[in-house]
Amino acid sequence: MQISGPIGVFDSGYGGLSILREIHKHLPQADYIYLGDNARAPYGTRSFDLVYEFTLQAVKELFSRGCNLVILACNTASAKALRSIQQRDLPAIDPDRRVLGVIRPTAEAIGQATKSRSVGLFATPGTVASQSYDMEIGKLYPDVEVHSHACPMWVPLVENLETNNPGADYFIKKDIDSLFGSHKDIDTLILGCTHYPLLLSSIERHVPKGTKILNQGEITAISLKDYLKRHPEINRRITRNGTIQYFTTEHPDKFNTLASVFMGRPVEANKIVL
Ligand code: DGL
Repeated sequence: MQISGPIGVFDSGYGGLSILREIHKHLPQADYIYLGDNARAPYGTRSFDLVYEFTLQAVKELFSRGCNLVILACNTASAKALRSIQQRDLPAIDPDRRVLGVIRPTAEAIGQATKSRSVGLFATPGTVASQSYDMEIGKLYPDVEVHSHACPMWVPLVENLETNNPGADYFIKKDIDSLFGSHKDIDTLILGCTHYPLLLSSIERHVPKGTKILNQGEITAISLKDYLKRHPEINRRITRNGTIQYFTTEHPDKFNTLASVFMGRPVEANKIVL
């Protein structure tokens, strides 16, 4: 008999909370395990091999804690590890479990969102170099142009809890000016790193008025709901007691501070070694 379990949500650090928050809003009864590999973040500047290795460790950890479905709530891991895990590892580990990412649902949402057919993408250097967004959007909407800009400073700002100060503002404005300065027709912006919504108030202050900023968390949540409707065999294997457990590879106190503010409820994480 197949055993039910929570939905696993994985990120290199705090970013996946922006996905968990929205998924939880849409599917509040489900149980969740959040795993942030804060000790080894950022992933965005790491090699393909290392991101794959770390992500696979995390997926196996979440499987061992009973998750039958794991969401890679991390664009970098989705770009660099998802396909290998789905195609190479899952059949050997357990073909009945599932690992899903955040890039495909975001790419699907682009067609309706942009009028000018010119889209901006802020993401980690790893995600930009992988060209995953260009490829996914290109397959679905060949008429849409994607203008990418890597923001290597943004994740460290979040991981070091430096989100709301003039220093953070300086780097955010600099990257926004650089992208929008050379592509004035961009009408829609993808925050292609799950950490970036934690910098949203500053981002909103600096983007040109009228720019639509996609909510990747909401898009992922709606897409997951739809997925579960289409896959009752997975839906059935999710426990539903409305609980969220948090694990971090860093010191839990630091994690709890930011996670509690962001989730709007007290968070008590446990430390874990991957
Ligand atoms: N939050 C992750 C993403 O969506 C990765 C950030 C990082 O660790 O560099 O890309």
